[in-house]
Amino acid sequence: MILKKVLTFASLTLLFSAQSPDSERLKDIFADSFYIGVAVNARQVNSSDEKVTSLIANQFNSLSPENGLKWERVHPELDRYDFKFGDEYVALGQKIGAFTIGHCLVWHQQTPRWVFQDQNNEPLGKDALISRMEDHIESVAGRYKGKIHGWDVVNEAFNEDGTFRESNWYKIAGKDFMKAAFRKASEVDPGAELYYNDYNVWRASKRKGILDFAKEMKAEGIRVDAIGMQGHYQLDSPTLEEIEQGIIDIHEAGFKVMITELDVDVLPRPRRAEGADLNMNFANSDEYNPYRDGITPEAEAKLAARYAEIFALYEKHKDKITRVTFWGLGDGVSWLNNFPVRGRTNYPLLFDRNLEPKTEIIDKIASVVK
Ligand code: GLA
Repeated sequence: MILKKVLTFASLTLLFSAQSPDSERLKDIFADSFYIGVAVNARQVNSSDEKVTSLIANQFNSLSPENGLKWERVHPELDRYDFKFGDEYVALGQKIGAFTIGHCLVWHQQTPRWVFQDQNNEPLGKDALISRMEDHIESVAGRYKGKIHGWDVVNEAFNEDGTFRESNWYKIAGKDFMKAAFRKASEVDPGAELYYNDYNVWRASKRKGILDFAKEMKAEGIRVDAIGMQGHYQLDSPTLEEIEQGIIDIHEAGFKVMITELDVDVLPRPRRAEGADLNMNFANSDEYNPYRDGITPEAEAKLAARYAEIFALYEKHKDKITRVTFWGLGDGVSWLNNFPVRGRTNYPLLFDRNLEPKTEIIDKIASVVK
């Protein structure tokens, strides 16, 4: 009888710990600091799985659309928009009262080829391309006016050395494509925040290019509210000093700072340049896919330490940072299982493959913050 009671108590404790008590909710830990967001995919946005829905609602107060509002999904053909995901996404955001992000209006990836071509498959001219881009912004940002609270207007337009990326946008329209995009987004939804978003913004040369141009836009009266630092980190790179300098520089240039796509890759990065690696099956490699059957305590401790130091830094600069968004809900759906090579088992987030919280890491983050 007593044993049965103990067992019942134990299983009840387990049940409740899986639902994470208030003290461990990320959005509560950082309630006075910044929004805590999560990128959601098409299955999660309208999921019948109660675990998914309650995890999103309990832990996060901001949402980002992982892929569903990218051009190829929302506007696959010239005369066809597909708003199924977007409508479900904003409905979820409204239901849980989240600060809801749009991602992304203009990017060189996941954008169909037709966008840059006329009906004869010839490259579009500058005016035609800009007007096509403006129509897109009007249709997408216009539909969700007042429901999407901040937009990644332009994503990844700069090279590592701070020059403009030679994307189709830039090749056809020069840097004016960015100015036109921000102008249009501001006109379509004056109430939404507007962001420039990129990876490796911690790199000084890249950041200088971004900030110089953002300031140029501002001086011309074009509204840019924040610079998004994506935050796809590894265990030992970038350094805290590099991240911190990025936060400070963006703030001093007059923009809000957002960490928009946070995750920490725990796997070794194969060097693509090495000829031998090209023929290697990384998924079956003990060296490059070492945690196929579970992460070791040592690696998990490194992940915990990395997350704790990162969040301690963010907390130190909470007057500059308005949002920190994780790029995915749980390890099982992270893009890092398939990047930079396919089919590995990665552990970059704070919820595991069963969407259970990594309580030791979350506790460690919470203790650094308090
Ligand atoms: C970039 C994009 C994101 C996503 C990630 C990889 O960071 O901004 O939308 O595609 O790459 O998943």
